[in-house]
Amino acid sequence: MSNYHIKNLEEYFQVYRRSVRNPENFWEEIAEEHFLWRKRWNKVLNWDFTKPEVKWFEGAELNITENCIDRHLVTRGNKTAILFEPNNPDEEAQHITYKELYDRVNKFANVLKAKGIKKGDRVCIYLPMIPELAISLLACARIGAIHSVVFAGFSSNALATRINDSECKMVITSDGSYRGNKTIDLKGIVDEALEDCTTIESVLVVKRIDSEITMKNGRDEWIQPLLDKAPDHCEAEIMKAEDPLFILYTSGSTGKPKGMLHTTAGYMVYTAYTFKNVFQYRENDVYWCTADIGWITGHSYIVYGPLANGATTVMFEGVPSYPDYGRFWEIVEKHKVNQFYTAPTAIRALAKEGLGHVESHDLSSLKILGTVGEPINEEAWHWYDDNIGKRQSPIVDTWWQTETGGIMITPIPFSTPTKPTYATLPFPGIQPALMDAEGNEIKGNQVEGRLCIKFPWPSMARTIWGNHQRYKETYFSTFENKYFTGDGALRDEVGYYRITGRVDDVIIVSGHNLGTAPIEDAINEHPAVAESAIVGFPHDIKGNALYGYVILKDTGESRRHENVRKEINQIITEQVGPIAKLDKIQFTKGLPKTRSGKIMRRILRKIASNDLSNLGDTSTLLNPEVVQGIIDEAL
Ligand code: WTA
Repeated sequence: MSNYHIKNLEEYFQVYRRSVRNPENFWEEIAEEHFLWRKRWNKVLNWDFTKPEVKWFEGAELNITENCIDRHLVTRGNKTAILFEPNNPDEEAQHITYKELYDRVNKFANVLKAKGIKKGDRVCIYLPMIPELAISLLACARIGAIHSVVFAGFSSNALATRINDSECKMVITSDGSYRGNKTIDLKGIVDEALEDCTTIESVLVVKRIDSEITMKNGRDEWIQPLLDKAPDHCEAEIMKAEDPLFILYTSGSTGKPKGMLHTTAGYMVYTAYTFKNVFQYRENDVYWCTADIGWITGHSYIVYGPLANGATTVMFEGVPSYPDYGRFWEIVEKHKVNQFYTAPTAIRALAKEGLGHVESHDLSSLKILGTVGEPINEEAWHWYDDNIGKRQSPIVDTWWQTETGGIMITPIPFSTPTKPTYATLPFPGIQPALMDAEGNEIKGNQVEGRLCIKFPWPSMARTIWGNHQRYKETYFSTFENKYFTGDGALRDEVGYYRITGRVDDVIIVSGHNLGTAPIEDAINEHPAVAESAIVGFPHDIKGNALYGYVILKDTGESRRHENVRKEINQIITEQVGPIAKLDKIQFTKGLPKTRSGKIMRRILRKIASNDLSNLGDTSTLLNPEVVQGIIDEAL
């Protein structure tokens, strides 16, 4: 018997040791005992980090939706699978049972088929947090289409880039979305994006806000009439273990976003197993992850991980501040949520509002609290522990990435003693390593370095869509034979890990990864801008905020700086999305550059953080003289 459900620290260590000593045997047992396979694998693992190539459960056949839905029908048919809480608290919550989910996914899958979507086709999903979002992912998976979800806060330009990169055939969207007391014209954004796309053949539209939208003849259709006519049953497509399941874009240090490709069997096994243990899910628990399904956290821990375990997973359409800052706690009370998983940014924002909203709600149902997406500071950790968990609910600080598919370093609640700001110990099967600048592994405890993973795990991304070379360069070339995460970490005296943050140019703002390139490209589109560079600087609530250094063209025209600042943020909102707006913009005459012309962001970061103590060696710069000027003008 595999230890599918770890219940104490001794058991964790025992399971961990086994997972490292004999990984194939370890994962094979889990795969065998807890999932539904159409055909068994011939080989558990095949790997070579130099190519890099990783294959799990080769030869096996399955469909992930049979694991997430069909197999629960007999025992859990009437159990709530998805508990939908609408934006407006006066609108009734929806309890979608496993049986209803089965019906809705099957019909949806039949609609996709009728529109000509086949196995391997890419379908872009641009939807708000409504049940159709989860259902459309599952409908794609049912027929073997590869879903590519784009967070519905991204702009038309960002959407078009992602559609074009993976050559999607279809977009699934809605007329609009609710966000607090605002509505957003999603269909309008899609229409604008599609002016720059040539591969889209059809657009299916979910009605959500009942707005007036334009439907392009021959391309756009409301989905409801199609669902009404669709047959009830759709035979699940038999997928090979390594067939693609989805693409999800994440920001890189440079260049366009990377379409991380996740495949079927390994992703399923790992997300299910981590979900069960990290949240210690028990049969009648109500689990709520506040992320958007547009991010990996939503894919793995709202949809696939929970459903593979037959769990009840809450989907919340709204925002934490509407109608007031008590909304999260109201939902916890209303649905008696047992596991609550959110981001440090949300915790900091809610903490700032004081305890009034917390104390007016009964939070006694909570058993486990989670955080993800960015480092959690000590103050926020204690606020969460004291006021939300009342020191009774362990906090799981889960470290992982879009690329890793599932949680990698985390406490197992009630087993691993927690420590504020520490993600603690690797999950079974995960072999972390800290590396020094020379590429050597730093052994022992009380050390700090760059975080790598030495051995494959089932849910790792297999490639970057359409660019395997970039995948190799980004993740497998910095350190030989290791996956490089891009994060720094330290290991304390007992072996606990604390993630210290990105060591590359990715900036995490409110838990969202932002690459510098698309934002700088947007700034440079302003007619008055000659050149720009952005960096992150510490922010009380968002973790990091963006600081832009902008060189204006010498056009002789006088422009008011305030107007240019506004216009730059306007362009960023249009090109990337509102999450990428700059908090500070400094106009400057020069940017520090290396002799090869690369901007020295390290120096800019220090100036933006007002940390001038150790600027490092500037003598190797092409233009060391600009540094003092930038310091003098700093905001
Ligand atoms: C950061 C989110 C500290 C980290 C699942 C990582 C964290 C990036 C934590 C991935 C954590 C995520 N503590 N930092 N618990 N979790 N990060 O791809 O820098 O959106 O590389 O995946 O978020 O962000 P992504």
